[in-house]
Amino acid sequence: MTTVAPLAIRQLVEADAPAFLALRVAGILENPSYFGSPAAEEEAAGVALFESRIRGSQEADAVFGAFRGDALVAIAGFFRPASGTMKHRATLWGVYVAPEERGGDTAERLIRRVIDHAREHVDVLTGHVTVGNARARRFYVRLGFGFSGVEHKNLKVDGRHYDQEILVMDFTAPSA
Ligand SMILES: CC(C)(COP(=O)(O)OP(=O)(O)OC[C@H]1O[C@@H](n2cnc3c(N)ncnc32)[C@H](O)[C@@H]1OP(=O)(O)O)[C@@H](O)C(=O)NCCC(=O)NCCS
Repeated sequence: MTTVAPLAIRQLVEADAPAFLALRVAGILENPSYFGSPAAEEEAAGVALFESRIRGSQEADAVFGAFRGDALVAIAGFFRPASGTMKHRATLWGVYVAPEERGGDTAERLIRRVIDHAREHVDVLTGHVTVGNARARRFYVRLGFGFSGVEHKNLKVDGRHYDQEILVMDFTAPSA
C-alpha cells in the first residue's frame, strides 16, 4: 500500500528558490500564455531572481507554496506595491499547481492561504486570468473572486496576443 504524504502550506524561504524556479518553469512550459514571462528568461535569470521574489520588495510580499512531503507541488505569489496610493491593493501572481495535484484540495488550500494573508494586509486582491483558461476561471469563481474587465492584449507569446480578465476580491465589500 502506498501512503500519500500530507500536504503542508507555508511561505517560501530563500532555500526553496531552486524548487520554485523548477516548478515555475514547468508551469510556463505547460502553458506559456498563462504567465507574465517566458521560461527562457526565468531560467537565464536563475536562482537569484527567485530568491529575490521570495524576499519581496516590502514586508507583506510573499510567495506561498504547497508541499507534498518535501516536494514543492504548487506556488502562488503575493505582491504589494510600495507606493502610498497603491499599497492598499495587492496582486496574486504566478499561480501554478502541478498536474498530479489538480482536482483535489491543494489549489484551494493554497489560494485560501494567500487570501487570508491579503485580508490582513490590503483592501483589494487582484490578478489576471488569460481568456480561455476556463479551469482557472471556474476555480477563482468558486473561491469568491469577481471579474472587473479585460486587459486587452495583455500578453504576447510567440507573436500572438492574449487578453486577460482582471480578477478581483474586495475585502471592504459588505459581503466580504
Ligand atoms: C488553475 C488551477 C490552479 C486550479 O486548480 P485545480 O486543482 O485544477 O482546480 P479544481 O479542479 O479544484 O477546480 C477547477 C474547476 O474547473 C473545472 N474544470 C476542470 N477542468 C476543466 C476544463 N478543462 N474546463 C473548464 N473547467 C474545468 C473543475 O471541475 C472545477 O470546477 P468546480 O469548481 O465547479 O468543481 C490549476 O488547474 C493550475 O495550476 N492550472 C495550470 C496553471 C494555471 O492555469 N494557473 C492559473 C493562472 S491565473
